[in-house]
This record gives sequence, C-alpha cells and structure tokens, in this order.
Amino acid sequence: MNIMNVDYSTKIPNNVNLSEDRQVLKALEGWHPGYIDWWNDMGPDGFQQSLVYLRTAYSVDPRGWAKFDYVRMPDYRWGILLAPQEENRVIPFGENYGEPAWQEVPGEHRAMLRRLIVIQGDTEPASVEQQRHLGKTAPSLYDLRNLFQVNVEEGRHLWAMVYLLQKYFGRDGREEADELLRRRSGDADSPRMLGAFNEATPDWLSFFMFTYFTDRDGKMQLHSLAQSGFDPLSRTCRFMLTEEAHHMFVGETGISRVVQRTCEAMKAAGVSDPSDVAGVRALGVIDLPTIQKKLNLHYSLSLDLFGSEVSTNGANAYNAGIKGRYRETQIDDDHRLQNSTYPVLKLVNGEIKRVDEPALTALNMRLRDDYTQDCAKGMLRWNKIISLAGYHFKLTLPNVAFHRQIGEFKDIHATPDGVLIDDATWKARKSEWLPSSDDGDFISSLMTPVTGIGEFAPWISPPKVGIDNKPGDFEYVKIET
Ligand SMILES: [Fe+2]
Ligand SMILES: [Fe+2]
Repeated sequence: MNIMNVDYSTKIPNNVNLSEDRQVLKALEGWHPGYIDWWNDMGPDGFQQSLVYLRTAYSVDPRGWAKFDYVRMPDYRWGILLAPQEENRVIPFGENYGEPAWQEVPGEHRAMLRRLIVIQGDTEPASVEQQRHLGKTAPSLYDLRNLFQVNVEEGRHLWAMVYLLQKYFGRDGREEADELLRRRSGDADSPRMLGAFNEATPDWLSFFMFTYFTDRDGKMQLHSLAQSGFDPLSRTCRFMLTEEAHHMFVGETGISRVVQRTCEAMKAAGVSDPSDVAGVRALGVIDLPTIQKKLNLHYSLSLDLFGSEVSTNGANAYNAGIKGRYRETQIDDDHRLQNSTYPVLKLVNGEIKRVDEPALTALNMRLRDDYTQDCAKGMLRWNKIISLAGYHFKLTLPNVAFHRQIGEFKDIHATPDGVLIDDATWKARKSEWLPSSDDGDFISSLMTPVTGIGEFAPWISPPKVGIDNKPGDFEYVKIET
C-alpha cells in the first residue's frame, strides 16, 4: 500500500496496513466502543448532532493531507497515521548514536518508553474534557468549528498513542489504553496525570491561552519524541505535529483578535489609559491587564509540564535514545552530551542564578528554554497590535520563578518580574498578577454565545481569513440539523 494515502476501508482508517495486522486491528476494534462512549460522555457538550465543517487527514503528505467536509463529531473518522518511514534512519543521539533506529521496542527501555507514551497519551483526552463546555459560549460559528477541530484531533492523538501501546506493548499496553479512557480531568479519585490538564478551562480567553501555551508544550514534547530512536514513535509524532500547528494557530490568532478588539474599542471611546480597567470593561471588552493575568496563569502552568529543571529521568531517556532535544538533528554537537554543561536557573542563597549543570541532567531546562523562545513570538505579534493602535502597554512573559508548582521554584514566591517575596506579600498581591474571581466573573459575563452566520461576539474581532478560504458568511457549524 502507499504509505502516503490512508486506507478508509477498515473501521479504523490507517496507513499502517491494519487490515493485514489482524491482532492489532482486533485490539483497536475492541477499544473503539469504549472510546465512543468516552467521546459521548466527555466530548463537546451539546453539539454531538451538529454538522461541523471539519478537516480529516486523507494522506500524510505535508503538501496536502486534509479534506474538509461537514461531519457529525461522533462519526469523525479517527485514524492511525504515521509519517512515512525514512530510509536508513539512525538513532540521532545518546549512547546508541548512529545505530539503526529501532523498529521494535528495545527490551531494556520498554518501561521507560511505555511511560512516556502513556503520559503523552493522557494529555490528549484531558484537553477535550477540559474544553467540553465551551461550545455553549462560543463567540462565533468560526470559533465553534475551531474548538471542535482541536477536540477531534486531540481524540485522534489519543488513538495515535493507543495504537503504539496496543501494537508494541502487549497486555500492559492494552491495560494502559483502557486506563486512558478511565482517568478524568480534575477528578478527585482518578485525575489526569499532569497538573495543567486538571485545571478548568472556564472561558474562551482561557481556551486561546491554553491552545497557545499548553498545546505548545505539546509541540515541544512531540518534537523531542519525534527524534526518538524508536521509529514508530518518531513517525507518529511527526504527523501529530502537522495537526498540532493548527491548535497553536487557534491560540495565537484568538489572542490577537481579543487584543485587536480591545484596542479598537478603547480608541473609539477615547480611552487613553489601557490600565483603566473599569473604563475599558465598561466598553464590553477585556482589558489588557486582565489578558496579562490570564497569560501569567497559563504560561506558568505550562512551564510546570516540563518537569524539574534537573532530572535524571530526562538524562536516562536521552542516553537511551528514547527522547531527544528540540531539533536534535540540527544541533551541531556530539549528540551524546557526556562532557557538556548547560546553564540552569536555580535558587542560590535566596537569589535566582544561572548555574552550570551537566547538560544531560539539564535537558528539561533546555527544552523549557526552547519553549520560552517559541512563546515569545506571539508576544511580539500581540504587542505590535497594541502599539499600532497607539497604546503604551506591553504583554510580557512572567519570570520562570513566578507561580510554580514544580521544580526549583516551587517552594518560594516571586513576582512576575522575578523578585522574591514572602508569603504575606504573595497573598496580599496575588490578585494583581493572576486572575481573581472578580476577573473570572467579568470574563464570564461576556461569554454569551453568538451563533448567527458571519456574526461575532463584541469582545473579539473577526479573523482575517476563513478556514479553508471560506468567506466570512460561511456556516461553519450547522447547529440544528
Ligand atoms: Fe494533541
Ligand atoms: Fe493540540
């Protein structure tokens, strides 16, 4: 079969020749009903019968892989798609650097690989659960459609990880696949595995922040797993990254459109001080200081996803050839890192300082630095909108010591500028830096659904271009059918 094209003749679309892999096909078909139950229970609330203009992958050719059409979400064809195998691919880092990539799980690294796949897999359904109520307050049909596109693709990413578990990890893999459907975001007894994936996504500004910051953590993790010496994982992650790009686009343009609308409203009303929160809110738009608070929250929660700055797990996964660095093959060094160092931010005698650590144990820090650089690009775009509107206000990323629950700074408090403060000061000033319940109430008050074709809620600008080049008056979701 042609690996580029996806076989839609089996119940589970795929480009891995499932029709000749009876055992795995059977395992996946056995898992399918539980998945559909999960989707119906925990997927988008209230729109399961609506027709949504969605893209589905019909190929893994980066030049053209998606087809757009109206689909009811439970009928979406969730498939198994791997990027084409690279001929003669070698393990690009670690102790086995330069040896042929593994097509089967290397026995000595089995447990580590399974754990990484399960952790990645767990985040995918978690975000669907976190976002399931947002459809009811969507600011437009365009945004509603984007939410659902992200949701069905996160569902597909779950399938991607479940395929690896069921194909390569036998009985434990099947058990882990079942557990992925059992845990629930925010559940007291069986929560999702990572903190940020148990937080609420209460409103659309949170959704845009989540897709900008938290999906971008996903991008970094997928990039480093795409380097893996375990070739099926590498190929899986490579195709997931193609889809992931759209999720971050939704976040970046979503925040741009909120900022744009706020600036337009301030200008029209003659508001000269963007920090006049009450004055701006009276215009029915979200003030820039509140946008900054939301940004502080989601960025800091996402930083926690990188784990401890110094980590032996990270070193072991690298040595083993399982998880590499961001753009590993483009880095000009020995790809073993036995003798190199990397500067790590640490708390030294009550001050935040850079300390050289062995590069191998500092891989989480390195990936987090790459992430921060990637995040900064959005900041530039959003700030350009603000300055073009003639306002002196800059959105900024808070210091990495701010509001952390994991790693070097988890036991201290710091301001967004990185000044260490005591508990009392933190308690007294926290609501200046993180969304307060009043801020949440204000944002919620704006979240009234807009479902007219081509219409947008007054707190957000329309997008510059439509999805799949559709015109502004395109009906992206046929809600009642
Ligand atoms: Fe994903
Ligand atoms: Fe995503």
